[in-house]
This record gives sequence, structure tokens and C-alpha cells, in this order.
Amino acid sequence: MSAVSPMTDAKPIQTLPDAQTVTEVTHWTDRLFSFRVTRPRSLRFRSGEFVMIGLLGDNGKPLLRAYSIASPSWDEELEFYSIKVPDGPLTSKLQHIRPGDQIILRPKPVGTLVLDALLPGKRLWMLATGTGIAPFASLVRDPETYERYEQVIVMHTCRETAELEYGRKLIESLPDDPLIGEFVKGKLLYYPTTTRETSGHMGRITDNLSSGKVFADLGLPAMSAETDRAMVCGSMALNIDLKAVLEGFGLREGANSEPREYVVEKSFVGDGI
Ligand code: FAD
Ligand code: A2P
Repeated sequence: MSAVSPMTDAKPIQTLPDAQTVTEVTHWTDRLFSFRVTRPRSLRFRSGEFVMIGLLGDNGKPLLRAYSIASPSWDEELEFYSIKVPDGPLTSKLQHIRPGDQIILRPKPVGTLVLDALLPGKRLWMLATGTGIAPFASLVRDPETYERYEQVIVMHTCRETAELEYGRKLIESLPDDPLIGEFVKGKLLYYPTTTRETSGHMGRITDNLSSGKVFADLGLPAMSAETDRAMVCGSMALNIDLKAVLEGFGLREGANSEPREYVVEKSFVGDGI
């Protein structure tokens, strides 16, 4: 793949505005990879937000998709965590990027998974399946998260252990991180589970919350609207089911314009729901 024209013999990408250079690529499984790119000087975003990124399509026009920024707002570069959809218009190509290649990044961050969309509380639950961990990879690295909450709990569920690895490695590195370590120590709890491969903790997030298993395992009281806040990021099916669970604990859905006890974002569109 050429550095300037990744997909075709179409117009070189650097003639477009919004081109950024890939600095690092890590492949986690045959379906998952992460990468870092240069950050536009002018880009300001709140940890947890998403932007549109992409490549030039075969027709020479930008082929863009929504991506959560996985790096925190203070980072000099931008990090993304991505699925590889075999016939996906963007990711069938994007999965082949290498350092030095360029991608398109529209610098207009938006999204509901931001601290400002929640009322103050004691505990913040980050609930993710699959690539839904991406916005939380940003928020767990933001000191403001720990300034606002006494405890932060990350529940991440995937079918298999290997799919948890990006989040696990990141979260396990935080206590020793020179920038964020002091904020994280004693405050961040991590509860990864698998559903289709045997591992230390098993089961769907919905089931582990409804049964009370996660509260018992972590030594926490059950969720309540007085103390607990939640952010949800997964498939449409997960989001719908988890909303019902959270409402059952008395939490209400919030938004940037009306902060409440929980917020939700899709980690992808599809599955006919
Ligand atoms: P598409 O045509 O976009 O998708 C084809 C099919 O692949 C979809 O119908 C769906 O069934 C499946 N699919 C797409 N994305 C995923 C996924 N992430 N996990 C599981 N199945 C999927 N994707 C990321 O990988 N990382 C992110 O941080 C991310 N953030 C997003 C934030 C928002 C708000 C939204 C709406 C989507 C986000 N996505 C993210 C999905 C992303 O926009 C694209 O759908 C994805 O990159 C695949 O693009 P594609 O063109 O290859 O295939
Ligand atoms: P399961 O293996 O029991 O379906 P997927 O790859 O299909 O997006 O799923 C990612 C993870 O999310 C899997 O562990 C899956 O569990 C879980 N999951 C999928 N749908 C739901 C849902 N509606 N409620 C809770 N967990 C879900």
C-alpha cells in the first residue's frame, strides 16, 4: 500500500484537507486492531466523543465512518480501536494501514459518552461489549474522570478472551502510568467477562448486573440512582437490553442537553435493529 494513495490510483489523499498520518498500528486478533495518528493542532474534544475517519474510496471520494477516539483529550496523538469487517467498505482497506500512511479525519467531535452528560455521583460504571470499549479507553485515561468519581468500574464483555486484550492491557498499565497512575490507584475496578470461552469471569453484562453477581464479586452495593452513574456502548441489542436493566435500578437516560444518571451510544450500526 502506498503512503499517499492507500486504496486506489485515485487522487492522492494529501490533496484533501483533514489528512492525518498513521504513527503506529497494533493487530490484536484477526478481527481487531488499534492505530494512532497525528492530531490536528486545532482539534479539541471531550474524552468519550467520536469523529468521522476514513480513506479515499475507489471513486476518489472520502469513505468515512464514525469512530470513537480511544485516546484521552490530553494526548498529543489520536488513538482508534477498530473492527475488521471482511467485506466492510472501509475496514477491509483500513486494516492494511501502516505507519506513514494517511487517513482522513474530520475534526468535528460529537457524542453522548461524556462526563458532562451525567449528574454528579459516587461511582461511574463503563459498560461495553466488543469495540464499545473504545470511548472508555479514552475516559479511563482522563484525570477528570477520577476527580468526579470515587470509584470507576469498567465491565467489558466479548465472546473470547483474545478480544478483551486491548482493553485489558491498557487498564492493567494505568496504575504504573506516570501521568495517570496516581489518579487511578484504588479507584479503578475492572470486570472483564467472556461469553463463549471459559475464563476467570463469565457471562453477559446484563446478566451479571441483574443477578447481582458483579456487585458481590467486587464488594459493591447494588446500583442506585443516588450514587451510581453509567455509560453504555455496544450493539443496538446490548444497548436496548442494558437500558432496561439500568432503568430497573432507577437510573434515567441523560444527554448533553439534559444530564441524568446514564448515557448510551451505539458502538456500530447494523444487525437490522
Ligand atoms: P460497515 O458497512 O460500516 O459495517 C458492516 C457491518 O459490520 C455492520 O452492519 C455491522 O454488522 C458490522 N460492524 C461494523 N462495525 C462493527 C463493530 N465496531 N463491531 C462489530 N461489528 C461491526 N467501529 C470501530 O471499529 N471502532 C469504533 O471506535 C467505532 N465507533 C463508532 C462510533 C459510532 C457512534 C458509530 C455509529 C459507529 C462506530 N463504529 C466503530 C462502527 C464504524 O462506524 C464502522 O461501521 C466500522 O468501521 C465498519 O466499517 P465498514 O465500512 O468496514 O463496514
Ligand atoms: P453472547 O456471546 O452471549 O451473544 P457480538 O460479537 O455478537 O456483538 O457480542 C459481543 C458480546 O456482547 C458477546 O459476549 C455477547 O454475548 C454480548 N451480547 C450480545 N448481545 C447482547 C445483549 N443483547 N445483551 C447482553 N450481552 C450481549
